[in-house]
Amino acid sequence: MNWRLRKLFRRLSGSGKRGPSSETPENSGKKKREKPDMMGDGSEIRGRLKRVKPAGKIVVGSHSLIEGLLQTETEKGKIQIGNNVYVGGGSSISSADSVEIGDDVLISYKVFIMDHDSHSVRYSVRKNDLQNWWHHGGHDWSNIRSGPVVIEKGAWVGAGSIVLKGVTIGEGAVIGAGSVVTRSVPPWTIVAGNPARKIRELGEDER
Ligand SMILES: CC(C)(COP(=O)(O)OP(=O)(O)OC[C@H]1O[C@@H](n2cnc3c(N)ncnc32)[C@H](O)[C@@H]1OP(=O)(O)O)[C@@H](O)C(=O)NCCC(=O)NCCS
Repeated sequence: MNWRLRKLFRRLSGSGKRGPSSETPENSGKKKREKPDMMGDGSEIRGRLKRVKPAGKIVVGSHSLIEGLLQTETEKGKIQIGNNVYVGGGSSISSADSVEIGDDVLISYKVFIMDHDSHSVRYSVRKNDLQNWWHHGGHDWSNIRSGPVVIEKGAWVGAGSIVLKGVTIGEGAVIGAGSVVTRSVPPWTIVAGNPARKIRELGEDER
């Protein structure tokens, strides 16, 4: 059977990924789209929200556009986003502790922000993670290091960057594309690279 016939057969039989199927919204197993606990006027979620534990908190201010994923991992997890904030497509914010993003912040596309390490550095602990998550009701977060992430007003995080636990990015700071931010960044400073290092301070005329 050539590929055209195979495609037609799959469509008619409903066995192909894109073909018709007996799925209905009721039996598809699709979950309802999650909403923020609070969202200000004029904001839009074009990406996705996910609370792994229902108690996770997600708050979005006004006139913000979220094209990426906001995910709380634990009951304590909290993502708080201010006004006029952009989170680009393919970006992901993951919180087991707290991620706070101030007003007028631009988070470009394919940026990863996480306030935790996800796994223990100890093999004896980490080796149970997959089975716990897969078969035993979820990840055990008790031995995983975490620390709040704060991105202050007016900062810009360049494309493809990674921001790790415990980091504060100061007001108006710029993170160059592709950076890995492991330490806090002072206000009005450009950093770049892996690990991110200071390139220069922004002058008064650049603020
Ligand atoms: C950081 C940035 C804003 C440029 O700032 P700038 O002050 O104009 O810096 P310059 O281009 O003069 O570069 C200064 C130095 O930093 C280095 N540098 C700049 N950006 C860098 C980056 N992302 N990673 C590593 N080094 C970088 C340059 O190589 C240069 O090094 P040198 O002095 O040894 O030659 C820009 O490079 C950048 O990364 N922009 C992000 C773009 C982006 O992500 N857009 C997505 C749409 S939101």
